[in-house]
Amino acid sequence: MELELLYEGKAKKVYQSDTNENHLILSYKNDATAFNGEKKAQFTGKGRLNNEISSLLFKALEEKGIQSHFIKRLDSVTQMVQKTDIIPLEVVIRNIATGSITKRLGIQEKTPFEPALTELFYKDDSLGDPLINDEHALFLTDITEEELNSIKQKARQVNLALTDIFAAIGVRLVDFKLEFGRNKEGEILLSDEISPDTCRLWDMETNEKLDKDVFRQGTGDLITVYEEILNRLEDQL
Ligand code: C5P
Repeated sequence: MELELLYEGKAKKVYQSDTNENHLILSYKNDATAFNGEKKAQFTGKGRLNNEISSLLFKALEEKGIQSHFIKRLDSVTQMVQKTDIIPLEVVIRNIATGSITKRLGIQEKTPFEPALTELFYKDDSLGDPLINDEHALFLTDITEEELNSIKQKARQVNLALTDIFAAIGVRLVDFKLEFGRNKEGEILLSDEISPDTCRLWDMETNEKLDKDVFRQGTGDLITVYEEILNRLEDQL
């Protein structure tokens, strides 16, 4: 039976589960985009790699007591998740300065942030996902101040857990983006994906980039570096 397509994003398609109205099926695409969709390409195997990496990471987080929307991986490119309404916020945690913050604030590349920096962006492609502050977030979304604080707290917990998970495979977690959604019960859950599309990952010994920056900057082969991350995670987790 054909599943009902609810939404198609840049990296995933979202289908309604036909067995449980509170579940969604995420199908990871082979498309890669950068610079708010200006740069686009297709990479055979990318959907499988991100589905597998994201599934392993959500499972590893659950083992560390951090719940998310993830239920289970179904096949090479799909996973079952709890249905949530995505809150239009991108929560970015930065451990080391690189990317947009270096240009925006003139911070020297590779400057460490201790403690890690949290930034909020408004998830709206037509506006180019602008940086916003807490008051903007409260105005623009339906979350309360308490919920915003708990989202930021959760993002910091995810940072500690993921930093350890990646350190164990010789990878430095430089920065990453999280999204949160509200389920039918009104609870806010970690949602979306965690993958080399949404994290910056540098090899601890060589500083080699093992994430989407190789595509953004045209400096390497996306599939080779995503495979490297998956292989190391599979050996460790
Ligand atoms: O581009 P910027 O430096 O702000 O990105 C910070 C982090 O958030 C990076 O790990 C990047 O991969 C991630 N990000 C994302 N989706 C966006 C913007 C940033 O996953 N739309």
